[in-house]
Parts: sequence; structure tokens; C-alpha cells
Amino acid sequence: MSVETRISELTREGEAAIAAATTSAALEDVRVRFLGRRAELPNLLRGVAELPPEQRGAVGKAANQARRTLEAKLEERAGQLAAGELHARLEQDRIDVTLPADPLPAVGRLHLITQTRREIEDVFIGLGYNVAEGPEVENVYYNFDALNHDPTHPARAWTDTFYISQEVLLRTHTSPMQVRSMERQPPPIHIIVPGRVYRRDSDVTHTPQFHQIEGLAIDEGITLTDLKGTLLEFARAIFGPERVIRLRPHFFPFTEPSVEVDVSCFNCSGGVTASGERCGICKGTGWLEILGSGMVDPNVLLHVAGNGYDPEVVQGFAFGMGIERIAMLKHGVSDLRLFYDNDLRFLEQFP
Ligand code: PHE
Repeated sequence: MSVETRISELTREGEAAIAAATTSAALEDVRVRFLGRRAELPNLLRGVAELPPEQRGAVGKAANQARRTLEAKLEERAGQLAAGELHARLEQDRIDVTLPADPLPAVGRLHLITQTRREIEDVFIGLGYNVAEGPEVENVYYNFDALNHDPTHPARAWTDTFYISQEVLLRTHTSPMQVRSMERQPPPIHIIVPGRVYRRDSDVTHTPQFHQIEGLAIDEGITLTDLKGTLLEFARAIFGPERVIRLRPHFFPFTEPSVEVDVSCFNCSGGVTASGERCGICKGTGWLEILGSGMVDPNVLLHVAGNGYDPEVVQGFAFGMGIERIAMLKHGVSDLRLFYDNDLRFLEQFP
């Protein structure tokens, strides 16, 4: 067989192999097989110099021609395969991570207790109050003694309160922050204190842990009228601009006088609904009890007299409310435990 015949044979074989390659990797094998360093065609080309002079021109030309043909075919086929492979990859990877994301679906929302806490905070922030937070693990001193509880006060009992030790307990209210805050800051002071509190109680209207917001305002010349005006403003912001409040005498060890505060029912007029029925929200009374409060007892101020709280000079009021209670009244929630069951059917009703 002449060299030229062999060259044209190699060209045809190479073209067939190129056409038959279905992947870039297979095509690369074909390239090595026909044009690689040890392949036959390049060898022929390298051997041209050793041929008799009269053959060199024709063989060299044919071999060069064959190499260029195969290179061109390889190039063309490589392009086809790469395009096909890219298309296949795009088909498979339909998710393009470089594209901007769709807006996230709405997952979750604030718990009704958080919503209510923030709503109440906003009212008092608007009235110039600062928000303070205090420890949930508290000293007996701040929780009871500094708040003028006498040694036999029932709340001190281990049956009512979670004790860590004789002197340390889980705070039973947010009121211990009254004296703590006054130790830190001389008068005037206007703070609210949201937070968790703990009592050994568990039924439809009590959970062992719940939330309160304390309020404390001390300055020169503060009177019960200021307390009433402040709480009226609060009641209207939360329960509607038509509301009125009433103060009933009560007792707390750390306020004197002490009052319980009721807001007029937002669901009825005087206990009777628009359709003439007895109102279920206020139980027909026309009033909803919302919090306890009073003028800060001078005995409390005496604990911080050294920081400018001389009861002969400054006075003020304090109040404390349960956040769950406010939320229950406002939204008609009938069982306190719903707040803690984490049942989405309940929680999703408060977007
Ligand atoms: N700490 C009281 C309670 O938990 C509420 C209260 C706070 C009353 C401030 C008067 C003044 O019941």
C-alpha cells in the first residue's frame, strides 16, 4: 500500500471516529488516537524527511492536508458536543442560583404576647418613658423586703413562690425593678419594665410563668391625678379612644394609696351589648380590670433616699399589669394556656 493510500485511509477512519464521538471526553480520545504524539499520521509527517526526494513533496502535502482536515473536523465536532452538553446541563439544572431570589414566603409572625408587649411599650415610650429590664432570678430583698412586704406576707411562702435559696427566688412580679432602677438613677425617673415573672399557680387564668409590665414615675409634685391621666391615655391607646377608666381602692404593700384600675368595656355599654344581650367580655359589669397601681409608698423611697429619693421631696406612682391579661381582654382569648400551647390555629389568628 502506498503511503498516500494509507494517509487517505487514516483520514476516512479519523472522520468516522470523530462523527461517532458522542461526548467531549470521547472526542478527546479520538484526537489523541489520530493526532497525538504517538499516532500514525504525525509519525508519517515526521518521517517525510527520510523518504526518497521524489516522494517527499506529495506525501508531505497529503499528510499535512489530512492533519488539517482532521483538526477542522475535530474543532467542528467539539463545538457541537459542547453546545449539546451545555444544553443538557441547563435542562438538568433548572435552578439558576445566580438569579435573584423570589421574595421569601411569609414564615411565622410575632407571638401575640410579643405584639401586645410592643404595643404597650410604644404607648409609654410616646409618653416619655424609658424601657428597662431586670433579672428574673431576684433577691428576696428587691422582690419583697424593699417593697415593704411584712415578714408574714403570703406571697413570701414557698408554696406561692419559686425559691432558688433562702435569699434568691424567681421574681413574682416586675416591681423589684422599682428599687433597682432608683438605685441606678436619681430622680426624675419614668420607666416601664416588661418581663417574665413566676408564681406557683396553674389553671385557666394562671400559668407558672407569665409576663408583666411595670411602670414607675417619680419626680417632684406627682399626684394621683397624674397616675389617672397616664393610665387613661394608656387605656384609650389600647382599647379605643372612647374608653374611660375608674379607680377602686385596693391594697399593695408598696403603694399608698393603692388602686385597682378598670377600663370601660369596649364591647358593650354598661354591660349590655348593642343587640340587647348581657356582655360576655365584661360579664355584664361594663368594666374590665386591667391593672394594679398606686402612689409609691414612702417606705419604698426610704431605701433609695441616699440617691435623691427623699420622700419629703419627691413622690410618684407605680403600676403593674399582666401582658397576657391585656391581650386576652383585647382579643377575646378565653384560656390563658392558649398562649403557651403553640397551636398554629390559634397563633395564626394574630397576624
Ligand atoms: N406588682 C403588683 C402585682 O404583681 C402590681 C403592682 C405594681 C401594683 C405596681 C402596684 C404598683 O400584682
